[in-house]
Amino acid sequence: MCGIIGYVGGKQAAPILLDGLRRLEYRGYDSAGVAVLDRAELGVRKKTGKIDEGIARELAADPVQGTMGIAHTRWATHGAPSDENSHPHLDASGRIAVVHNGVIENYEQMRERLLAAGHTFQSSTDTEVLAHLIGEHYEKYQDEPDRAGALTRAVSGALREVIGTYGLAVVSTEAPGVMVGARRGSPLIVGIGHDENFLTSDANAIVAHTREVVFLNDYDVVTMTAERFDVVNLGTDTATVQISKLEFDAEDSQRGEFEHFMLKEIHEQPRTVENALRGRIDQEGATARFGGLNMTPAELRGVQRIIIAASGTSWHAALIGEYLIEGLAHVPVEVEFAHEFCYRMTPVRRDTLVLVISQSGETADTLMALREAQRRGHKALAIVNVVGSTIAREADGGIYMHAGPEIGVASTKAFTATLVALTLLAIHLGRMRMLSAGRALEVLRALEALPAQIESLLGQSDAIRELALKYASADDFFFLGRGYSYPTALEGALKLKEISYIHAEGYSAAEMKHGPIALIEETTPCVFVIPQDSMYDKTMANLEMIRARKGPVIALATEGDDLIGKVADDVIFLPRSQEELYPILASVPAQLFAYHLAVARGCDVDKPRNLAKSVTVL
Ligand code: AGP
Ligand code: GLU
Repeated sequence: MCGIIGYVGGKQAAPILLDGLRRLEYRGYDSAGVAVLDRAELGVRKKTGKIDEGIARELAADPVQGTMGIAHTRWATHGAPSDENSHPHLDASGRIAVVHNGVIENYEQMRERLLAAGHTFQSSTDTEVLAHLIGEHYEKYQDEPDRAGALTRAVSGALREVIGTYGLAVVSTEAPGVMVGARRGSPLIVGIGHDENFLTSDANAIVAHTREVVFLNDYDVVTMTAERFDVVNLGTDTATVQISKLEFDAEDSQRGEFEHFMLKEIHEQPRTVENALRGRIDQEGATARFGGLNMTPAELRGVQRIIIAASGTSWHAALIGEYLIEGLAHVPVEVEFAHEFCYRMTPVRRDTLVLVISQSGETADTLMALREAQRRGHKALAIVNVVGSTIAREADGGIYMHAGPEIGVASTKAFTATLVALTLLAIHLGRMRMLSAGRALEVLRALEALPAQIESLLGQSDAIRELALKYASADDFFFLGRGYSYPTALEGALKLKEISYIHAEGYSAAEMKHGPIALIEETTPCVFVIPQDSMYDKTMANLEMIRARKGPVIALATEGDDLIGKVADDVIFLPRSQEELYPILASVPAQLFAYHLAVARGCDVDKPRNLAKSVTVL
């Protein structure tokens, strides 16, 4: 969940590691630490809290020298966020330092065994147990002159004993200039430089230094020096090493003039839509085209059912995908939480296509769903943002979001890009079935109109801030909608709760009367997503029910709706569009509302408490 960066080369490692940590911080910010090796001297510094207040100060006060090192930002799974539990962790001899992403599931048994053998532990993490285990294996090769080889063998030996997930970087005072990395279920990337090499869990951390990378595969173990790297695979013994090129710039993951990444990413959405559409509209055929689905038209026509599996915001996008694909292509769709799909008994017919959605391409639950679908013999496609991520590489085909790096923990532009991709996919599938050219063109034209429309919504940011201030003291919110606006409401509520910590529930506007309406009183604002679509009248009736209970109403409604101002306390107007695209338009002001409210309440918008950008644990 957290981030790893390792450097070996000719420059001082600490500044490179610190810069990398800053770029990785969105992945975990409970604590951070570095281990820098100066010949046989290991300098370890670690500190709780965010980078600038924690490890950066620590390093300024107590610098470390050396031209290789490893660093880590933590999202705690085992043991509270504390200095002791921060990585790097050392083995019993103090010679070996380890940083780790993931979870060692059998750490309890290992810990018991090691305690019985006389080990003592400084922390309550699973990672320290792994460090001791590596050290124990290292002892076996005490007399071996090739200390680099010994370290690789020790890491491999220890990993054969553990159950769980890991992205690892390991150094030893006995093998200066050598770094060993390994992965299973947690991403790890080798960055290839000139007389220097990098190891990281996230390409953002190294793109300022190199664009040439190798995305390691599960069970790969890499041994790296400044000049070379060698990869072996613990499962197959022969590793596949493919060099890829990073297609984004270091500036893409900078905040620029914006106060927060989330705000920057909200404002990027006109471009996001353009990028997600680029080259994908076939005007003549009144359809959409994709380069990477890897399915023939006959195979796509044979699909009788689609299961979409995803988590969090991507799951909300999937729910909207259900409305889109069923509405435009008449193919039955079922949406599953990725984790539920893996573990419950889901009967899946053979003619079912499985689609997973993930911004990061690394979400463990979603990756497991993809693998489970493939294990059952299904074609599994993916909609993914991060190029080269595990899900992107393991899927049978798919669609890239082309949203660029999303750093804000609260997903915004990736959600929009996903909805564009899903709309295009629905049109593609629909045009192979019953969707008329005329209807498809209406939606395609509406898609092309989105960038300018989103721009105009962004122009309302100040008015939305005023609105957020008006409601900033509310303790509970409801987000309500029907049809396409129902999953849109779920996403609006998630945005608000994750960054402002205000309790917010997304609900079907129609379902309220079956129970939750009991919670409505004068202090419970309800955000109604109520565009002028086929559900307008029905939603209006539900809105009246809330008004009758004195619940304040904020409406996201369509421009030109003369009625809404008479029944809602506040209105944000959306440009007129096709029913299928209101989720995109309504989400922009909902994101801004959550953003301004969180800022008004003094919350750390980009790094909300308890969260991390990409959840690589199950
Ligand atoms: C939403 O803002 C996120 N915090 C979270 O719910 C996220 O969408 C989820 O963890 C899935 O991530 P993914 O798209 O990278 O798989
Ligand atoms: N399980 C390790 C810990 O709790 C690593 C967690 C992570 O991936 O950040 O320290």
